[in-house]
Amino acid sequence: MAHFITFEGIEGSGKTTQIATVAEFLRRQGHDVLTTREPGGCPIADAIREILLHPANDALVDRAELLLYAAARAQHVAEIIQPALKAGRIVLCDRYTDATLAYQGYGRGLDLDLIEELNTLACADCRPNLTLVLDMPHETGLQRALQRNSVENMTDEGRFEQESLDFHQRVREGYLALAKNAPQRIQVIDATGNPGEVSERLMACLQKILDSGIDS
Ligand code: TYD
Repeated sequence: MAHFITFEGIEGSGKTTQIATVAEFLRRQGHDVLTTREPGGCPIADAIREILLHPANDALVDRAELLLYAAARAQHVAEIIQPALKAGRIVLCDRYTDATLAYQGYGRGLDLDLIEELNTLACADCRPNLTLVLDMPHETGLQRALQRNSVENMTDEGRFEQESLDFHQRVREGYLALAKNAPQRIQVIDATGNPGEVSERLMACLQKILDSGIDS
């Protein structure tokens, strides 16, 4: 069984709900599961998250943003992910290295090779065995994310939701391009429809992988 699984997708693609469902599914099968997220996952990385996502920080330049994601990841890997994997746990992570390629690379236009190098530095050999990209039209995702932010009164985390539709389209296309280049690791899941329908698709994909016994 793959033991480091990452979840990716545009804003509003429903990752958070689906990760909880997958965690429950794996726990019922007797696995020891840790769920975590990026940016964040530990106090130092959470402090960096606040800088990265606060709408007031619109002066943050693209290169500084990239380095902050890398810094948060290095800390998260060392403090949380590596120890959990060493202990034999299954780690489910909400966003990881592919998010940096999709958002800072395809979205912002920073050099993909440079981002790959920074990802390598930050993740210290902790590479996901499996990545599930929840895919949906960017217009739908963005609309959902904006609605969620207003319902949950998330006034301090909306910096990316303020980006243009074009930006979110590039991010979505970026994820699809990444999946095309790494078809063994990255599975694209149709995230349209209600959460139950998406869970079913996700479980069917995971079950297939469990049955084929993919390991790290
Ligand atoms: P979050 O509120 O967790 O969004 P979501 O629930 O949609 O995952 O915010 C994370 C934001 O950070 C999201 O807009 C994507 C962005 N991000 C990057 O731009 N680069 C990265 O490397 C990572 C991990 C996230």
